[in-house]
Amino acid sequence: IPVEDFDLVIFGATGDLARRKILPGLYRRFVAGQIQDSARIIGAARTDQNDAAFREEASAAIREFAPSAVDEAALASFLKLLSYVTIDARGTAGWDRLKSEMRPGVTAAFYFSVAPALFGDIAERLASNGITHDDSRIVVEKPFGRDLASAKALNKMLARYFHEGQIYRIDHYLGKETVQNLMAVRFANILFEPLWNAQYVDHVQITVAETVGVGGRGEYYDHSGAIRDMVQNHMMQLLCLIAMEPPYHFDPDAVRDEKLKVIRALDPLKPGDIVRGQYLAGPDGPGYLDDVENAESRTESFVALKLTIANWRWTGTPFYLRTGKRLRARTSEIVVTFKEPPHSIFDEAEAPKANQLVIKLQPNEGMHLTVMIKEPGPGGMRLVQVPLDMSFADALGQEGSDMPDAYERLIMDVIRGNQTLFMRGDEVEAAWAWTDPIISDWEAAPTRPEPYDAGSSGPEEALRLLHRDDRRWREIR
Ligand code: BG6
Repeated sequence: IPVEDFDLVIFGATGDLARRKILPGLYRRFVAGQIQDSARIIGAARTDQNDAAFREEASAAIREFAPSAVDEAALASFLKLLSYVTIDARGTAGWDRLKSEMRPGVTAAFYFSVAPALFGDIAERLASNGITHDDSRIVVEKPFGRDLASAKALNKMLARYFHEGQIYRIDHYLGKETVQNLMAVRFANILFEPLWNAQYVDHVQITVAETVGVGGRGEYYDHSGAIRDMVQNHMMQLLCLIAMEPPYHFDPDAVRDEKLKVIRALDPLKPGDIVRGQYLAGPDGPGYLDDVENAESRTESFVALKLTIANWRWTGTPFYLRTGKRLRARTSEIVVTFKEPPHSIFDEAEAPKANQLVIKLQPNEGMHLTVMIKEPGPGGMRLVQVPLDMSFADALGQEGSDMPDAYERLIMDVIRGNQTLFMRGDEVEAAWAWTDPIISDWEAAPTRPEPYDAGSSGPEEALRLLHRDDRRWREIR
């Protein structure tokens, strides 16, 4: 379904995110027929260049990052939607020109794909030049602050110029197909809900493992670390979707209210419930310390933690989270392990194993549920565990590469004015309020993170986090 006509301004249009995600994503939505020929996409950045040069750049980015979607005629039509304004975010140059590019009465969105330090300058200039109005939307990227105080300051600053309904805080994990599917699975089936609580769920694991290191982003990363970069936002969002109560309606505030309650119910982390790691050099590249060019760095490139939620549904069910760079495989998954049946009628050797629901976010989006069945054949009653498999690509006849990328989906939601998959200000603050003490306690007396081999599953200590509870991580593969 095509979205309404729009003017989209991309601040930071010559930057990495625009090249890798925003422009290729818009192009793919255009090819899919979702963006009309009349839409306008206006690049704005400091680089002094004209429309033709920007189109050239966009075309190269699309060829590089959306090669399978390239069709010369479509690309030529898409490039016609683009124009460029040289702008000084901290000065006066370019703002009149930008204003003249905007069409009155047309949905207007402004993507702040710039360093957060510039958010305030841009917001102020948009407002004081009369470029934005009550219905304009702004899109802001993470990192949304680096602690509670800075996130609050950022929210307060944005609130001077925009009301909450105009602010789209992106967490691209919420745009991933399977992440949304999680809500469909939980709330459109009766099967899971009765079991979805501490009485029947033994524990939950959330893993976001990456094979890449931090090379190239060392400066940013070394000041963040895995907790700020991944846990406070992406992993917290996944946790919320798994743990939240059913919202009364699939409506932005109803969903976000329920997510907020989960974050607020998190117990403070216990000191022994966290393991930090740092990758060593491997055959594929340098170690963390060389990647960030800081031999003394105590920033974690891996973190595993055990957290608990103090509410009726989840008291007694631990949630284990881990994320890291340079691990064995790129995989993001959520594993819900149910309890074992209370009594086994079979011989001890045939004791049933716990059912597991594995929700695979990437790659190969899908889900499988392990169930016990009788091993086929004449060998008597022998039990085996088999997966009930559902790969979304197979089930829906869609190639993985045809699924809209998270950014594509989220940008279209901005145009539609749907905030369901965006973080509300209070959610972001609550997430920082929980992570702040973890970070500040440690920063007050940082020890060396546990070293781990590149290409491994992370430090040994992370395995122990579960072993001591008589549980095991699902293998990263
Ligand atoms: C980003 C983090 O938000 O998410 C990166 O800053 C990380 O460090 C990335 O690599 C992971 O996203 P995805 O979609 O590749 O899992």
